[in-house]
Amino acid sequence: MILYFEIAHYQTFSSVDRCCHFPLKSRVQFLREFLATPAVIGAVAPSSEELARTMVAGLDLRNARAVLEYGPGTGIVTDYIRRQIAPQTKLAAIEIHPRMAALFKQRHPDVPLFQDSAANARMICDYACMDFVDCVVSGLPWSTFSEPLQVKVLDETMRVLKPGGSFVTFAYIHGLALPTGKRFAGLLQKYFPVVSKSPVIWRNVPPALVYRCRR
Ligand SMILES: C[S@@+](CC[C@H](N)C(=O)[O-])C[C@H]1O[C@@H](n2cnc3c(N)ncnc32)[C@H](O)[C@@H]1O
Repeated sequence: MILYFEIAHYQTFSSVDRCCHFPLKSRVQFLREFLATPAVIGAVAPSSEELARTMVAGLDLRNARAVLEYGPGTGIVTDYIRRQIAPQTKLAAIEIHPRMAALFKQRHPDVPLFQDSAANARMICDYACMDFVDCVVSGLPWSTFSEPLQVKVLDETMRVLKPGGSFVTFAYIHGLALPTGKRFAGLLQKYFPVVSKSPVIWRNVPPALVYRCRR
């Protein structure tokens, strides 16, 4: 029911005006959305090219059959995913925020986007005819999430990620010392047998590192 409503809502995105200077407009809008809902957006600026590159580095995207992105925001990381996947690879994205979803659809009008929570990933994959996915690429602001939401999204991730599949996500370094950030790092160790961290990307705003996990 919820999904039906949100898919209907999603279909309206194609009417968004595309005649704009996208990068500047999206940066300004990103900041505006952060100021309005800081806990949902979780960052003052879109991810840098370096962070996006680091997110996809090491993923076997060329051989992936299906890829799922959580919280794509303006779609910068999606650019890097799309450069590597094969034409037949299924790619879908889940973005909860209506205006971020609209920005995403300006940049990636042909990528199926579900305006919904990543906490509904299994239901969304069923709807998108994706039984299991090879990679989940997450831009979610985990350190702003409650424990039940962190657990729920990770549970759903395990329901969609195939054995041996990859999960990548980033963390802003100021969030690593927060109880929520520490709890998320602990949960990753609990859910995934293999977890590694990239060096800090200092030129991202704010600086961030990437967690790479293998199921
Ligand atoms: C830090 S921003 C991602 C930035 C993105 N990499 C970019 O460069 O634009 C986090 C994104 O996650 C989305 N988000 C937050 N909670 C979510 C949830 N439960 N499910 C799906 N998306 C969510 C936010 O709306 C926001 O677009």
